[in-house]
Amino acid sequence: MQKAYIQTFGCQMNGYDSQWMKEILLEEGYDITDEVKEAGLVLINTCSVRENPENKVYSLLGRLNRLKRQKPGMIIGVGGCVAQQEGEAILKRESSVNMVFGTDCFFQLPEMIKQVKEGKRVVYTDWLERHRKIQNFIPDEKIESARIEGNKAMIAITKGCDNFCSFCIVPTTRGRLVSREAENIIAEAQSLIKKGVKEILLLGQNVNSYQTHQFSFAGLLKSVADLEGLTRLRFTSPHPNDWDNGLTDLMASHPKICNQIHLPIQAGSDRILELMRRGHTVMEYLDKVNYIKTKIPSISFSTDIIVGFPGETDDEFEKTLEILRAVRYSHVYAFKYSSRPGTKAAEMENPLTEEIKQERLSKLILLQEKIQEDLFSQLIGTKQTVLIDNAHPKENGTMNGRTDSNIPISIPETDLTSGELAEVFITRKKQYSLVGRLVRRLPH
Ligand code: 5AD
Ligand code: SF4
Repeated sequence: MQKAYIQTFGCQMNGYDSQWMKEILLEEGYDITDEVKEAGLVLINTCSVRENPENKVYSLLGRLNRLKRQKPGMIIGVGGCVAQQEGEAILKRESSVNMVFGTDCFFQLPEMIKQVKEGKRVVYTDWLERHRKIQNFIPDEKIESARIEGNKAMIAITKGCDNFCSFCIVPTTRGRLVSREAENIIAEAQSLIKKGVKEILLLGQNVNSYQTHQFSFAGLLKSVADLEGLTRLRFTSPHPNDWDNGLTDLMASHPKICNQIHLPIQAGSDRILELMRRGHTVMEYLDKVNYIKTKIPSISFSTDIIVGFPGETDDEFEKTLEILRAVRYSHVYAFKYSSRPGTKAAEMENPLTEEIKQERLSKLILLQEKIQEDLFSQLIGTKQTVLIDNAHPKENGTMNGRTDSNIPISIPETDLTSGELAEVFITRKKQYSLVGRLVRRLPH
């Protein structure tokens, strides 16, 4: 049997697209391997959100080049965000690459592979028929195996973004916002639930800007949450601008929608937020956060932060630290600003040095570690609802799961099994996880 290897860089949306690529390749008769040396077909799903992941793609291609010299028949495909942007240029730069395909084109993989086998080198990067491909895409019942991880699965509900934040390349690499038809999303969710999925994560670059002629985001969220057989529903990433109190009220009233919100703030000063074109002030963000905290006291927040945006002063950076202290996020994804050619911010004056960016990042990480440690300490002695994932790979009799707020937890000496929901007493904490014991099994 022919073997395929897929290497994924970047965000959850890329991870999701790679799952589809796997399924399409399984359909085509490929076996998926974790060993690149065994593969006759190698696909790289690329990310260009920052310079670092982009560089990793080119160094991987360098290694593959050498491998291909020993295995001349090997097909190499570069897909995703870098491919969308660079297109033909990748074929020119890398003689070993046979096909380049953009973020909307992976459904055409079979056709591309066929052409490559006929001796052609191909580039598929158009946005044509986007709506047909995304909105009306209905999964094939047979091929959902690659989509399910344990008892969880992701479903993309939107693609692209219309926001054009000044630092961000996503609207260029993933195109303008498209919302999938709700009936297809619900059909996909039902099909996954039938196959044993207990927890669904709805995905979108800006997930709560979802809108079709029939459904708002809140309407869709409620319809999926109401599905028989589903235990938990999460979503990521919402944009603060599109967050309204109605969404908070829905979350507060619906037990299946998890008490966890990833709400990117990016920076703590109004001047920087404006330069970033985020469309809201710090106060407006905090008002929403405070309303959520009042309505859902057990809520857990996470966020994205960029340090060292062009011209960011020490005082402005301090304001970002103040936000961390005010909101008390359980997790912060912090990044050094990375200039992306073609974005508005790339033309801005006063870029900061790597040293300053690194210094600020380290300071922020130190503060966040302290906050997270405090939050975890407060959980000791409380009861949490846990969905059991899988057996601990090393500790016999221990099961792993996640709390409602998505914190990893292990439960030693238990007969709980994957997919069960349980009330768990938290006995202690580790650096990034909790440990607990079963109080009672919960109906789900
Ligand atoms: N530099 C650094 N971080 C960035 N992000 C997006 N673009 C850039 C950039 N040019 C971060 C933002 C976003 C997350 C997905 O990646 O914080 O929310
Ligand atoms: Fe990028 Fe802003 Fe869109 Fe997020 S909301 S994907 S940061 S442009």
